[in-house]
This record gives sequence, C-alpha cells and structure tokens, in this order.
Amino acid sequence: MYNLLKGKKGIIFGALDENSIAWKTAERVHQEGGSFVLTNAPIAMRMGNLNDLAEKTGAEIIPADATNEEDLANLVSKSMEILGGKIDFVLHSIGMSVNVRKGRHYTDEKYDFTAKGWDVSALSFHKVMQSLYKADAMNEWGSIVALTYMAAQRTFPDYNDMADNKAYLESVARSFGYFFGTEKKVRVNTISQSPTPTTAGTGVKGFDSFINYAEKMSPLGNASAQDCADYTVSLFSDLTRKVTMQNLFHDGGFSNVGVSQEIIDQF
Ligand code: NAI
Repeated sequence: MYNLLKGKKGIIFGALDENSIAWKTAERVHQEGGSFVLTNAPIAMRMGNLNDLAEKTGAEIIPADATNEEDLANLVSKSMEILGGKIDFVLHSIGMSVNVRKGRHYTDEKYDFTAKGWDVSALSFHKVMQSLYKADAMNEWGSIVALTYMAAQRTFPDYNDMADNKAYLESVARSFGYFFGTEKKVRVNTISQSPTPTTAGTGVKGFDSFINYAEKMSPLGNASAQDCADYTVSLFSDLTRKVTMQNLFHDGGFSNVGVSQEIIDQF
C-alpha cells in the first residue's frame, strides 16, 4: 500500500455486497488511508450486508436514495459533520434499469420504467454533484468518479435502455466537470469498466456469454472489480489532478480492438 489517500475524506455510493465495484473500492480506499461515509438506497440496505463493510473500514452509513434531493442534502451535510470537514472524493456506483428487470425489450420500452431507470442511473449523478456543489462541500483538487459502460458509444443490443442512461451520465460528467473545474478546481470523470460479475452486471441478458466474449477480445483480459478499485484510487489520489471531464476506458483494451485472433479462431 502507498498511503495515496492519507487524510482524504469521501462518500462512496453503491456498495451492495462483496461483489459490488463500490465494495471493492471502499476496501481499497481504506487500505490507502482514506476515510469515508458509505451510502446506499434505504431498500438496498435491507438486501445487502453493508454493515459488515462499514465495520471493516471504520465507516459510518447514511442511507440515501440517490434520486431524492432531500436525502442527498442530508447525506452531504452529515458526511461533512462525521468526517470533520469538506469532501475530497466521491464514487457514484449506481445503476438500475426497470425495463431490463422486467424483461422489456428495447423496442418495447415502458416509458415510466425508462424514466425511473434514467433517474436512478443517470440523473442521480447530476443530483449528487448539484448537492455537493450547492453545499460547497468539495475541497479544492477533489475528485468525483462515476462508473459507466461502453454501450454508451457502441451498440450492445441486450444492454437495453442502460446504453442511453450511460450516454447521459457521461455527458453530465463533462458538463458538470466544466463548472466544478473552473469554479472549485474539482475533477469529474467516468470510468468505462469491463463487464463485471455483480448484481447489476449479471442482470443483463446473456451476461455469461458476453463476459467471455469480452475476455477473448481484450488483449489484457477483462478488468475485474478489484482492478477497477485500484484505478479509482488513482483517480482519487493527487497523482491525477489534471485529469477531468474524461470518459476513461478501463477494459483491458477491449474498446480499441476490432477483432482478436481468439475470436477469429472460433469461426
Ligand atoms: P451493484 O448491483 O453491486 O451496484 C449497483 C448499486 O446501485 C447497488 O448498490 C444499488 O443498491 C445501487 N442503487 C440502485 N438504486 C439506487 C438508488 N435509488 N439510490 C442509491 N443507490 C442505488 O453492481 P455494480 O456492477 O457494482 O454497479 C456499479 C456501477 O458500475 C453501476 O453504475 C454499473 O452500471 C456500473 N458498471 C457495471 C458493469 C458490470 O458489468 N457490472 C460494467 C460497467 C459499469
């Protein structure tokens, strides 16, 4: 360990169980000396085992529905109280599509499902940042990261309306990143992660074949949740202070490969 986050304080959204990318990130941030508040939707608290993670990392838990502005305002002010000052890093690791959950095809969306999924998966990132911004809660040279997927740029048919949600999320990172950068010297980036076996990931139809395909297409192999935690730590650290408004591919090279020999050999 390198003490990369010694003295830094943050908020981590989206740890549900030990497979969650946010869970691995929280453990890794803790190892690097960072302290943080853990948060998730009240309903998720009942499903997962966030208490175990909180105990392990010495973190407090504040429930917040990331679509609810009041919850977010409360989360931001309580976090500053608990952590004893402004925030240095925030991880938004939240995603959910009601259309996917209910098995609705992309060409047969139910639009109130679409709107709900967009609110949870995409607009929530704006809501989180607006809450931090209005409370002037971020320290200078702080870092905000959200997780995304390459279906925002290229078509993966079974990714359904999450593709559109991720495109919106990535755009919000650029747009808010401008204001957070010029006014508060805070950076905002998205990490475009390999398919990863988590609750959200395995909810996508055909996930098992898909993750194997990505593995064979990526020169370095898929990036795991643990790899993603490492990368996120680097983005929270002072070593990446001038990286902002970027969508950063963390996928073993997948996004720049047309076809790999292993895939050709299968035909
Ligand atoms: P996960 O299922 O462990 O995490 C998703 C989290 O979102 C859960 O903790 C859930 O409780 C939380 N959430 C849902 N609704 C919420 C709400 N209203 N308010 C607050 N939190 C809410 O799955 P995973 O894979 O760790 O997902 C984290 C992020 O990574 C998501 O943005 C996902 O789209 C993204 N991602 C995942 C990939 C994968 O293959 N697993 C690939 C690329 C990106």
